Amino acid sequence: MKQQLIIFDTTLRDGEQSPGASMTKEEKLRVARQLERMRVDVIEAGFAAASPGDFDAIHAIAEAIKDSTVCSLARANENDIRRAGEAIKPAARGRIHTFIATSPIHMEKKLRMSPDQVVEQAVKAIGWAREYTNDVEFSAEDAGRSEIDFLCRIFEAVIKAGATTINVPDTVGYNLPSQFAETIRQLIERVPGADKVVWSVHCHNDLGLAVANSLAAVLAGARQVECTINGLGERAGNASLEEVVMATRTRADIFPVETRVDTTQIVPASKLVSQITGYPVQPNKAIVGANAFAHESGIHQDGVLKHRETYEIMRAEDVGWSQNKLVLGKHSGRNAFKTRLAELGIDLPSEEALNAAFARFKELADKKHEIFDEDLQALVSDETVTPEQEHYKLVYSQVCSETGEIPESAVTLAVGGAEHKAASSGSGPVDATFKAIEKIAASGAEQLLYSVNAITTGTDAQGEVTVRLAKGGRIVNGQGADTDIVIASAKAYLNALNKLHSSLEKLNPQGDI
Ligand code: KIV
Ligand code: ZN
Repeated sequence: MKQQLIIFDTTLRDGEQSPGASMTKEEKLRVARQLERMRVDVIEAGFAAASPGDFDAIHAIAEAIKDSTVCSLARANENDIRRAGEAIKPAARGRIHTFIATSPIHMEKKLRMSPDQVVEQAVKAIGWAREYTNDVEFSAEDAGRSEIDFLCRIFEAVIKAGATTINVPDTVGYNLPSQFAETIRQLIERVPGADKVVWSVHCHNDLGLAVANSLAAVLAGARQVECTINGLGERAGNASLEEVVMATRTRADIFPVETRVDTTQIVPASKLVSQITGYPVQPNKAIVGANAFAHESGIHQDGVLKHRETYEIMRAEDVGWSQNKLVLGKHSGRNAFKTRLAELGIDLPSEEALNAAFARFKELADKKHEIFDEDLQALVSDETVTPEQEHYKLVYSQVCSETGEIPESAVTLAVGGAEHKAASSGSGPVDATFKAIEKIAASGAEQLLYSVNAITTGTDAQGEVTVRLAKGGRIVNGQGADTDIVIASAKAYLNALNKLHSSLEKLNPQGDI
């Protein structure tokens, strides 16, 4: 009999800590619904005390999600924990995840607390959390660089105080698999009450070892893995959910565990998160990269044609890859459109949003005769933007680009409802368009990234553009899709400007208590 490996997804919390990956409440809800559809056990929906926006998003997710536990992060202080407790109140199953740092360097330099004070604070935190829920997780931040004797001491104390999951984070991604597995083994052996709790791991990818460390920990007895879609997360990211799930499933001969995850929902989840956060998936990324199941060399192709398992250890369809399916065309009606959106798990907020999306679908179908699922996903992302989130809007764009001539662009923008026009030259049509937009917006933001991906195959494909802007310490990602790359680029730039314009400030969950 296999034991259950609990999949704890922190895309909406640790994943959101990636530069520019901040999501709106509506975007977080869409991701949470997809995680529920994928049968993730625990969704860490955010850090309630970080900002009113985070609180609202967790509360809305707690109301909407029925089949997964909804969790909020909280530092080990009373205010954070009460905010977390209030945010998860509507959940069918709610968890509070509280943490405090335990490594000598964090305790001394960051917290300026003695080990005794840290233990005392952690125990108090569990007491406050238990006023709201019986499902309380405790994390020893920077456990990967903490002393094992101190970890044993603090874990024993928090278990006595009522913690039900004990998480061992390798916060800075410093550990190696054999070493991390040994830590987990010793903790389970030495901590009194270890058999009453679930042991969990949370590994960062600074040395590219987050998945390897997590899997080594599972072999040593961990029964919860904290991970994110596409491995998103602070700095080099977290362990990637799809890799952890598929490794334990594909190597069922080695792992004594199984997950509840519906693996066919993995690729849709990856695409949704990439589209919403503006973090493209590298083509050679395991499981969800565009090339993960593509066989390029003749020898491999020949082998796969003769017998698939010669070069394939997993089936593409098992993780949700489908051939680009022709789903709709220009003669499809509103009902077919609505039905397909529902099948994709897309729930537009209102009838007006549906009508607007349908009108845009018809426009797209005129330009591009075959509409695929990926096109629909890109198309509806615009309809989830509320008017308040759209301070800058593209009204008109014209570009002139000729061999041997300097490209020129003219744009008309609606800014807070009023129209403004500007023109500029640039090194290319996209550069000229961005300069024209800047003449109006005068944001002064620094551009950190510009990338274009074709959403589907063929030269009539929509291009999906990501623009990352930085200003005043904030970093945002904007996205736009269109069959015209210049328009897609303008939309992405404006989307980023709109995010900069909305001034939601957040606390950093790794800050002091
Ligand atoms: O990396 C980390 O230590 C964390 C904790 C808050 C669990 O994200
Ligand atoms: Zn983390």
